[in-house]
Amino acid sequence: MPKTLSDLFSQKLIAWHSRHGRSGLPWQGKRDPYAVWVSEIMLQQTQVATVLERYPRFMKRFPTVKKLADAHIDEVLAEWAGLGYYSRARNLHACAQQVVSEFGGCFPSDPDLLEKLKGIGRSTAGAIAAFAFHVRAPILDANVKRILARLFAIEGSLQNRHVNDGLWGLAGKLLPKENSDMPVYTQALMDFGATWCTSRKPVCLGDEKRCPFEKECQANLSNQVLSFPQKIVKAKSPEFDCDMLLIRSGNSVLLQKRPSKAIWGGLWSLPESAWVTKSDKRTLPAFKSIFEAVLPHELKNSWLKVCKEVIQGPQIKHVFTHRRLWMQIWEVTATKSLEPKDQNLQWVPLKQLGRYGLPQPIKVLLQELSLVRDGDLKN
Ligand code: ADE
Repeated sequence: MPKTLSDLFSQKLIAWHSRHGRSGLPWQGKRDPYAVWVSEIMLQQTQVATVLERYPRFMKRFPTVKKLADAHIDEVLAEWAGLGYYSRARNLHACAQQVVSEFGGCFPSDPDLLEKLKGIGRSTAGAIAAFAFHVRAPILDANVKRILARLFAIEGSLQNRHVNDGLWGLAGKLLPKENSDMPVYTQALMDFGATWCTSRKPVCLGDEKRCPFEKECQANLSNQVLSFPQKIVKAKSPEFDCDMLLIRSGNSVLLQKRPSKAIWGGLWSLPESAWVTKSDKRTLPAFKSIFEAVLPHELKNSWLKVCKEVIQGPQIKHVFTHRRLWMQIWEVTATKSLEPKDQNLQWVPLKQLGRYGLPQPIKVLLQELSLVRDGDLKN
């Protein structure tokens, strides 16, 4: 009986990985589910090159799930600063506490249980189960969806539930037979999607490399590789304006802790006004009204009295996944520091900024204004 693609797929993919896959990375070949889990979360929206630098640092700072669970969230956020998508850091912390309180500090090996933990989706649960426990559980991230949509010429939107369910079914059918092959197979699938079967320049459209599935891939056979998967039409992300106060007194700067549910939740940033839909006709407000908009609960008058020099600083743009923000910075020199009433406001000595998790654009701003040196922001 001829072997079907399902029979051959995992073998061919593993053979491909032995020649072209990524190996020797610090998170590979580990059976410690804690180490696997941290790497999977960090790799989710961060490039491998950055993870190579930050993962060992994170593991040194929080070597066990217990150490992470016992840490204060501010320490975790400070360690995560610069990696973006801070809900990942908050979820890591909450998940570590869940593992300690609900599973006695040992991660479960069952992907259904892993998926119930904070911040672990079905695909990440599969990856952890496969890497750490050699469980035959499928993964289905965006790269894997693209590979399968092409191989089997799957029509329809990936956002459609039936299409998605069908892909999960296929991902399950293609798994290797042997449990011991699960780590290399799972890594191979990730690497193949990230480096060969890429979204815009898959190797089958070039003439340097030969895809191991060129004879089986339905999209390739019908010359329609770039038509799969169906493109998701994205609306242009909305743009917003806000004002931010960079108030300095001596060698300290006033920082505000952001609400945990907001963007950059739990990080320390410059006090800012509410975001308003960007308008080309925005007229710059008077400083007094900015101050009232940004710090409405502070003693406006006495603060205003000590804020002597006000300079219109740079306007910086930051692009989030679903929105773009224009931040107008106002540089203010206060003659005498007042004690903030709000607990979420703190004067922080410039030299100690490294202990605080700051949003990346605010770090860059402080460096560009020469208020801190690169080294001062590292802890
Ligand atoms: N993205 C998510 N997990 C990954 C892994 N283990 N290797 C490379 N990229 C990844």
